[in-house]
Amino acid sequence: MRFDNKVLFVTGGASGIGRATAERVVAEGGRAALVDLDGDRAVAVADEIGDGCIGLAADVADEQQVKAAVQATVEQLGGVDLALAAGGHAEFGPTAEWDAERFMKMLSVHVGGTFYVCKNVLPAMKARGSGSIVTIASTAAFMANNNNVPYGAAKAGISGLTRQLILEALPEIRINCIAPGRTITGMTTPLMLERGGDMEKGEEIFGRAIPMKRMGTADELAAAICFFLSDDASFITGQTLIVDGGETIV
Ligand SMILES: NC(=O)c1ccc[n+]([C@@H]2O[C@H](COP(=O)([O-])OP(=O)(O)OC[C@H]3O[C@@H](n4cnc5c(N)ncnc54)[C@H](O)[C@@H]3O)[C@@H](O)[C@H]2O)c1
Repeated sequence: MRFDNKVLFVTGGASGIGRATAERVVAEGGRAALVDLDGDRAVAVADEIGDGCIGLAADVADEQQVKAAVQATVEQLGGVDLALAAGGHAEFGPTAEWDAERFMKMLSVHVGGTFYVCKNVLPAMKARGSGSIVTIASTAAFMANNNNVPYGAAKAGISGLTRQLILEALPEIRINCIAPGRTITGMTTPLMLERGGDMEKGEEIFGRAIPMKRMGTADELAAAICFFLSDDASFITGQTLIVDGGETIV
């Protein structure tokens, strides 16, 4: 029970990696505030996960909405001990097709959203005297993929933000980053179906470039995130851990 009496604030909590992390934290004794652009789904998932969880609507690209969600979490769950910034979207295409508005939205949601989550949970964690934050980059921060310049730039920004921020937290607050490779979630399911026709064929196609010859699951990512969130990682801060079945090695 690594998360006994701990409260997790998680954006993107209604789906995929965010949801899987909330489920693990609750299974190990904690409670969670699931925050998502889709507030109705966040409430429904919070109800499914169990007692003590709440669902909240917020667009992470809007600092006031993030701030209000943190305040609601403190009021309803008593504080914030753990945070995961996992809310975000994926969009791809050649650079020539990205106008300024579309490009800035990618940066606002991913880099901005991560910044607003960290900035607004830090005071609540400082009030507790300890805490652990995990941000989400991507293998796209470290390797080139076709049609992926804005997303790759945003994800590299998140890894850099994580490193810089540790000096502004208390020594007792750790901040780390997970860089997922290809993972089966709400984000990739439509791409898998489009490329493969069904999920099995889609995974086979996406898995070809991966030494482990398969995609990751949301729960496998949640396991790595929960390592960073927990005291098992008590002397690790500012790091980015790649969880990708070996794709970036080859
Ligand atoms: N799935 C992958 O292969 C993969 C790989 C690398 C990185 N990631 C990253 O992992 C994180 C989680 O994604 P996932 O794979 O679980 O996808 P997902 O689509 O299953 O979950 C993402 C959630 O974020 C929410 N969201 C989107 N925009 C938001 C916004 N502006 N404000 C608040 N919530 C918003 C969505 O509604 C959704 O519920 C994302 O940052 C994503 O970029 C995913």
